[in-house]
Amino acid sequence: MHIDIIAGARPNFMKIAPIIEAIRHSPFTTRSGERDANSEQRTALSYRLIHTGQHYDKKMSADFFEQLGIPEPDVNLNARSGTQAEQTARIMTRYEKLLLEAPVDLCLVVGDVTSTMACSIVAKKMSMKVAHVEAGIRSHDLSMPEEINRMVTDSITDYFFTTSEVANTNLRKAGIPEERIFFVGNTMIDTLLKNRPRFTPPPIWEEAQLEKGRYLVMTMHRPANVDEEQKLKAFMEAILNNVEDLPVIFPVHPRTGKILDRLGIEAKHLRLIGPLPYLEFNYLVEHSKAVLTDSGGITEETTVMGVPCLTLRDNTERPETITQGTNELVGTDPANIAPALRRVFSGNWKTGSIPEKWDGGTGERIVEVLLRLSR
Ligand code: UD1
Repeated sequence: MHIDIIAGARPNFMKIAPIIEAIRHSPFTTRSGERDANSEQRTALSYRLIHTGQHYDKKMSADFFEQLGIPEPDVNLNARSGTQAEQTARIMTRYEKLLLEAPVDLCLVVGDVTSTMACSIVAKKMSMKVAHVEAGIRSHDLSMPEEINRMVTDSITDYFFTTSEVANTNLRKAGIPEERIFFVGNTMIDTLLKNRPRFTPPPIWEEAQLEKGRYLVMTMHRPANVDEEQKLKAFMEAILNNVEDLPVIFPVHPRTGKILDRLGIEAKHLRLIGPLPYLEFNYLVEHSKAVLTDSGGITEETTVMGVPCLTLRDNTERPETITQGTNELVGTDPANIAPALRRVFSGNWKTGSIPEKWDGGTGERIVEVLLRLSR
């Protein structure tokens, strides 16, 4: 079976790394175009890595490939910036052209970004199978582009690889037959557990003389939170006024950076820095007092590392990070931030436990299923 593995934006890269690693370690697999001269066995699975180019800055893309040991993509569709429709259209037309020239049997997409949806539609319309890693999760919030991407992708997916029982239940409720749901765990956590011993302090550690447990990390990039300048300003003020003057380290996503520049927020304990590479970012998170974020993936990582996480959203597609993990929905009303931070500082934050199958073996489980499907 020939498969395409699709990656387009930053949160995709940590999800594909363990799948590619497991494929490379299997004696039954190879990369498209490669011949395993020593192998007597017929290769059951070959893969091609497609980068859509949705994220293209070194700090948003190449740094992750390098640190996570992901091989150079076979093809880069160079989608780059634009509106959601422009990006979707560019990815779709370019991926279609590629598949016309060199079709595959299955297209494997991960997560919920524009690239996930765009490539799955193209492949399905060309009668190829679609596998979705991180299928079945739902925020039920259609103001988030990611939710639309999840719904569209899952509506045409053939093989659903899931991270949680909640996702399995969502899919069953949608009428997906049991034999197409594979509860394999979380590839993002494979990457976290594998790389945890390699986490390394970023330059800001020395510069700001940070100490373990004596600073906070924040990230914010969701359009609903950052595109309205006054809302972003109110968030920042509520945070900065309630952190007992501990440093707040904010690695800024390009979308947020453009807006923060205009707002000109300054506080002596706020440190705005550029996007960090994977190993540096997670070093900061692992040793922080708490994280404030509107990301979904970070709530999974903080759950596994046992770090208090305050989610600045009204909903989540990852409820297990709340019911089992260290995450709480603080919401989008800045007035909720002070009481939540008080609980962090008084030591009254929950400790949490690690969800089932978030154990580092998900990439291998996915490849086992793919090999079964290819026979
Ligand atoms: C995307 C994903 C989101 C994910 C986020 C993480 C979708 C719908 N959203 O949102 O799920 O959490 O990535 O990073 O796919 N830009 C750069 N350099 C880059 C990439 C983007 O400057 O390498 C700029 C773009 O020009 C644009 C902004 O950042 O102005 C947003 O990028 P875009 O890919 O549209 O979506 P994200 O907000 O990054």
